Amino acid sequence: MPDRPYTLLSCGMSLDGYLGSVAPRRIELSNAADFDRVDAVRASCDAIMVGAATVRRDNPRLLVRSPVRREERAARGLAPSPIKVTVTERVELEACADFFTTGDAEKLVYCASPRVVDARSRLGPVATVVDAGEPVQMHRISDDLGDRGVQRLMVEGGGRVHTQFLTENLADELQLVVAPFFVGDSRAPRFVRDGRFPWNPDRRATLAQVRQIGDVVLLRYALSPRFSLD
Ligand SMILES: NC(=O)c1ccc[n+]([C@@H]2O[C@H](COP(=O)([O-])OP(=O)(O)OC[C@H]3O[C@@H](n4cnc5c(N)ncnc54)[C@H](OP(=O)(O)O)[C@@H]3O)[C@@H](O)[C@H]2O)c1
Repeated sequence: MPDRPYTLLSCGMSLDGYLGSVAPRRIELSNAADFDRVDAVRASCDAIMVGAATVRRDNPRLLVRSPVRREERAARGLAPSPIKVTVTERVELEACADFFTTGDAEKLVYCASPRVVDARSRLGPVATVVDAGEPVQMHRISDDLGDRGVQRLMVEGGGRVHTQFLTENLADELQLVVAPFFVGDSRAPRFVRDGRFPWNPDRRATLAQVRQIGDVVLLRYALSPRFSLD
């Protein structure tokens, strides 16, 4: 049985720990140089995962943007962009979302068992719907992705998904970018929800790298022995 994928959590947050705001317009928690860094990380992965709320709220394309990186992947026999992955219980996802309509890579929708039939009828033409059990647990998704040959998984949020990867102890690495401003509104989504995290005051995570990128800072935490600083 293959190993579960090396799993890298990536997100940008405000100084007060928010992933975004409640305003309709999306706020930029990163800058151009950091977006390019994230693009390079995407290009190094086999799959990128976001929660269904992020698909609805941000309508992300989740593609490798740099033509050079796309060509480098193609030269290695890979699709220009990684497989896209999402998870849902309610299946309130539109087949016309950019997640489904952009890029040639496979799209996987992990769905709670009771809604699989509905999900297949709505999203079957644009994605592979996978029965992920009830309740859906991230370790099942991780194992299934490993079975599909995914060796390196990038999880790009949002907070509910990050929380589960962390509390289920499935994360090998956290790449946290801190933007130089406050959101200041507790209705906004936070980096993580409540939970029992393996890293706490008695078991501190290992800070492996700190890098200033313009006006933001990248913090890389090693969360498992599989972490390597490349
Ligand atoms: N700053 C950043 O780097 C960054 C990155 C990504 C997202 N964001 C922001 O984060 C916010 C969204 O975060 P969020 O925490 O609200 O949501 P999220 O983690 O993106 O998605 C949560 C949704 O995923 C599905 N889901 C998650 N765990 C599940 C499980 N175990 N079983 C079944 N379904 C499951 C559910 O979808 P259904 O509701 O469809 O059942 C749930 O509502 C957005 O505002 C977005 O802009 C920021």
